[in-house]
Amino acid sequence: MAATPAHEVFKHPARTPLIGPSILSADFGRMEEDCRQAIEAGGDYLHLDVMDGRFVPNLTMGPDMCRWMRKYFPTAALDVHLMVEEPEKFAEAFAAAGATNITFHVEVHSGSAAVRLAEKIRSAGALAGLAINPPTAVAPMLEIAGAFDMLLVMSVNPGFSGQAFIPSVLEKAKAVKGLLRPDQRLEVDGGVSPKTARACKDAGMDAFVAATAIFGVAPAGRAKAIREMREA
Ligand code: DX5
Ligand code: ZN
Repeated sequence: MAATPAHEVFKHPARTPLIGPSILSADFGRMEEDCRQAIEAGGDYLHLDVMDGRFVPNLTMGPDMCRWMRKYFPTAALDVHLMVEEPEKFAEAFAAAGATNITFHVEVHSGSAAVRLAEKIRSAGALAGLAINPPTAVAPMLEIAGAFDMLLVMSVNPGFSGQAFIPSVLEKAKAVKGLLRPDQRLEVDGGVSPKTARACKDAGMDAFVAATAIFGVAPAGRAKAIREMREA
């Protein structure tokens, strides 16, 4: 499948860092309106948190949510974060549903199995990402970082929005950043706000996911929140 313009957001970011509003904290009854507003407020891409109640203690959304987002936002970059035990079961469905990037966790698949899944995701037409949780040693990510378009360093233990940023992950981010090519993004997710964005930037992160810092403020304040994170 040919790369869509949405892929270009991650490959050739016009603005650095990219800001990705996480719809986990959007109003699920007004999803279209909240997403449109977040994009108009300066969001570069939309982040979809997929949870299976096993890898993390929460349930959220599946490929149908992605499909509807793609319908209402045909050119948006959709970043799917799979916090699930069996990402190989769902990756192709998300690609078919219009995901731009699909990230799974190194705690679930590492080594050659992870590289194979990245190839499967790419042949299904999406970019591939690898995520790592705060307590996990960075070595398995460093070994295969070159095989991914996006490396995601979690700055909270995943499962819920609204948690406090864990600063110790910044060292891990620096180690990953040292290996990356210019076409690879280093994403941070969890507790990112105007207060923590500067430390993320200094550690080399160039794609900031934020739920509470964007959707937790009134619509009129979201452009300011996004600008403050970008310019931190
Ligand atoms: C956490 C999710 C995050 C979450 C971030 O499990 O992966 O994407 O939405 O929420 P905030 O920005 O509130 O920490
Ligand atoms: Zn996430």
